[in-house]
Amino acid sequence: MIKVFHFRYILFTLLATFVVCASLIVPERTENENLKVAKLLSLLGDDTKVHLPDTREFGVSAKRGEALIKEGFSTRPGGGSTRQQSKHFVCTSCHNIEKEDPDLAIVDPQARLEYTAKKGLPFLQGTSLYGVVNRETYYNDDYEKKYGKLVIPARNDLREAIQLCAVECAQGRKLKSWEVESVLAYLWTIDLKISDLSMSDQELELIYSALDDESLTDTAITVIKSKYLSKSPAHFGTAHESLTEQKSYKGDPENGQLLYDNSCLHCHQDRKYSFFQLDNERLTFAHLDRKADGYGRHSLYQVSRFGVYSRSGKRSYMPQYTYERMSEQQLADLRAYIHQAAQ
Ligand code: HEC
Ligand code: HEC
Repeated sequence: MIKVFHFRYILFTLLATFVVCASLIVPERTENENLKVAKLLSLLGDDTKVHLPDTREFGVSAKRGEALIKEGFSTRPGGGSTRQQSKHFVCTSCHNIEKEDPDLAIVDPQARLEYTAKKGLPFLQGTSLYGVVNRETYYNDDYEKKYGKLVIPARNDLREAIQLCAVECAQGRKLKSWEVESVLAYLWTIDLKISDLSMSDQELELIYSALDDESLTDTAITVIKSKYLSKSPAHFGTAHESLTEQKSYKGDPENGQLLYDNSCLHCHQDRKYSFFQLDNERLTFAHLDRKADGYGRHSLYQVSRFGVYSRSGKRSYMPQYTYERMSEQQLADLRAYIHQAAQ
């Protein structure tokens, strides 16, 4: 009798200890998952170059950087406010500043469309600035065709990439040095967290163990880096290819409507960023539908794959969608929606 009691007592004590330990571990786990990827990598001894802001400069602040990105101007360190960065756009005309891909390790425009639609975010030509500080190269692949030699300094340098976009993408003025540092400071508030990465419990375990066990650090770094893209790949298509390709796709109008609402209307509704007005009138759809089968200024394929270039006297332009930012299937879906809505 005494023996049985003893046994139960031990079992109970063990169980209680386990519960207490688990509750101690859980908060730590959540804390770890909010840990920044860059911080964790540096704790593990990774030596990838990171672009930290120089906050010694007078007036540099993440808050000013945030205002510059969202509104195009901010308060000036000396008082008053800065000049508008661009007459045509703000950074968020073309870039989200939230996570926009459910799995950051792969390029999947359809997964992105569904994910952003659920979160109420637009679907845009520029890659999200969320996590841009964690990437290692910029304006990759075919962007060299568009911007030529300009991409060389910007490819490995985030400051240069920001300036290139301020001038070429946003068609505005160069940022002052304290403005660039402020933008960088803000971008470091929207860098990747461990919880943004799709990691199994085992992988998380390995990574936390590696913090105390040097023999595991290389593997841990490799695992972390396999969970997000170190660059945003970019391949241009042509209107001709898309027009030809379209014949082999069956468009889904419902998905096409998501594209129209979350992408085209983001810039064209009420002439927000363009003089060219798009809305939900049947006549508008009929116009786009009629023009789609050619290479004119209002051809869906032309504007999506080639964009609309800026000219002197008309600086505003439309960035093209790379295959990574809108797939051929999605373009077919958009066409199917426009065709249906034109009836
Ligand atoms: C008219 C559209 C547009 C505007 C406005 C714009 N960008 Fe961009 N930006 C792009 C496109 C398109 C790219 C091409 C590469 C990509 O993001 O996939 C790009 C690239 C970038 C990149 C490199 C990203 C990468 O991973 O290659 C940075 C950094 C950037 N922009 C910052 C900014 C900032 C800061 C502003 C505001 C001052 C801004 N952009 C305004 C369209 C725009
Ligand atoms: C990032 C903002 C943005 C997005 C997203 C966007 N556009 Fe544009 N678009 C523009 C700007 C800016 C112009 C060109 C200049 C102007 O007319 O002001 C333009 C030009 C056009 C033109 C040519 C207008 C003309 O008269 O020359 C068409 C057609 C067009 N867009 C259709 C679309 C369609 C369809 C979509 C969705 C697939 C779309 N746009 C998505 C900004 C955008």
